[in-house]
Amino acid sequence: MTQHLSGPSTLEGQVAFITGGAGDIGRAIANTFSQAGAKVIVTDMAEQADVGPNIQYKQYDVTSRDQTDAVIDSVLEEHGAIDILVLCAGNIARTPLADSTDEEWDSIMAVNVRGVVNPTRKLFPLMCDRNFGKILAFGSIAAKNGGVASGPAYVAAKSAVHGMMRWMAKAGAPHGVYANTLAPGPVETAMWASVTQGKPPAANNSVPLGRYGNPDDMAQAALFLCSPASNWMTGTSLDVSGGMWMD
Ligand SMILES: NC(=O)c1ccc[n+]([C@@H]2O[C@H](COP(=O)([O-])OP(=O)(O)OC[C@H]3O[C@@H](n4cnc5c(N)ncnc54)[C@H](O)[C@@H]3O)[C@@H](O)[C@H]2O)c1
Repeated sequence: MTQHLSGPSTLEGQVAFITGGAGDIGRAIANTFSQAGAKVIVTDMAEQADVGPNIQYKQYDVTSRDQTDAVIDSVLEEHGAIDILVLCAGNIARTPLADSTDEEWDSIMAVNVRGVVNPTRKLFPLMCDRNFGKILAFGSIAAKNGGVASGPAYVAAKSAVHGMMRWMAKAGAPHGVYANTLAPGPVETAMWASVTQGKPPAANNSVPLGRYGNPDDMAQAALFLCSPASNWMTGTSLDVSGGMWMD
């Protein structure tokens, strides 16, 4: 059973902006943050998405700097500030190195890495000016163990995300801006189904805790890392992997 935080985890009155938020993990985070009192703005690729009650949806492509800036400007105009940024947009490929194409590398790096660069390039300086911000990116245990069901492009892209967030943690700390990364193990979502083609190996052979993760496991860890409960944590890469990776 996932234990839910209470008290100091509240996000009352805060504005949270989530990329890739129509995906399985992003949707769980959006609803958890909304229940914790945040005003939540979810963004994703589709023109429309059913993201949950009291949650605002905006469409944009994280690989575009212009679209990123325009959407963030529109949120700032409406809500005044963004306190929490969760970077969930991602794509994956499991093609082995020798068969991988330039197009695939470009796509994986664009979504996973530039999808972190674009929103942070816009918001990080604004958060520093306000002396507050919590930024959370989705890395992966693939960046630590070389990949569970992913190819080299995904491993390289997620490794870049972990490194970049450490840079941001150092640069942001004097200004009250936090930057952390979650390193999930396999989570039962559309992405996991796509790489395992709906036939994942039995979890009890590979996951010490005996099951794959679910989106709510990620949402609770995200709530912790975006709430005051983690106010002495920055630059961490938090493993949420059922014990598949331990460091
Ligand atoms: N599911 C897992 O096992 C797992 C494990 C480790 C890390 N992660 C990471 O967690 C995050 C969420 O993954 P998920 O499992 O919910 O996958 P998902 O496929 O359900 O969600 C990813 C979302 O990103 C969106 N997206 C893709 N390209 C985009 C673009 N150019 N612009 C805007 N949005 C775009 C997709 O439309 C989708 O809604 C990803 O960054 C993923 O790499 C997932």
